[in-house]
Amino acid sequence: MIFTVASDTDTLAQALADRLIVEAQASWAHARPLRIALSGGSTPRRLYEELGQRAATLPWQALEIFFSDERAVGPEDSASNYRLAHLPWLSKAPPGTLIHRIPGELGAQAAADVYEDILQRAAGAGRDLDIIFLGVGTDGHIASLFPGAAFTTTRLAQAVAATPDRQARVTLTLPALVAARRRILLAEGASKADALRASLAPTATTPLARLLARAQVEFWLDRVAAQALCPPP
Ligand code: 6PG
Repeated sequence: MIFTVASDTDTLAQALADRLIVEAQASWAHARPLRIALSGGSTPRRLYEELGQRAATLPWQALEIFFSDERAVGPEDSASNYRLAHLPWLSKAPPGTLIHRIPGELGAQAAADVYEDILQRAAGAGRDLDIIFLGVGTDGHIASLFPGAAFTTTRLAQAVAATPDRQARVTLTLPALVAARRRILLAEGASKADALRASLAPTATTPLARLLARAQVEFWLDRVAAQALCPPP
């Protein structure tokens, strides 16, 4: 496991934006866009704002953008993960930028089928995804892979049924997360420290633990969340 710890949210967002730009430029030097899947939730909001502030100088042609998951809603819906990234950042993309939105407005299963086809064609069956960005829920969920849910082993994108407290969604599957070249998990705050600590326990069975058992994850944390990994003496 690789850890990058920053003192606060702004510093973390700036450092991750710096790294993303450097990696996109390095990829483009080999005539290949950096294929990234963006996370939803609130944690990456500051990163998207930071990237939006740098829109004028971003190597847009060196980025091909996918999504780690999406709610079964349209792009204008306040719950949309696409909208989360679009408002501060992707709305500034020049024409021709490769952005693969998950069409949540079709409903979870139809959107998952569309996204499966996109991933098969544009991301080399997942193997060409360079970086998948993830958050983590307090229950140890990642993307929309929730504890206790049935995880497909044969698809790259799957529908996730609605529950009384959660909209239906589309998510990258565990095989898709594992097939990607890298995974970056962004976490901040005390509630995520507990979630990380629980998922790093040897007997953990959370979705994050199931990923960690199969693939390397790079953790980008603020100081508080990092305490999970190095509890104060
Ligand atoms: C989503 C995300 C989800 C999120 C975690 C953490 O669609 O909500 O994909 O997995 O990353 O729930 O959310 P916060 O960043 O809001 O804590």
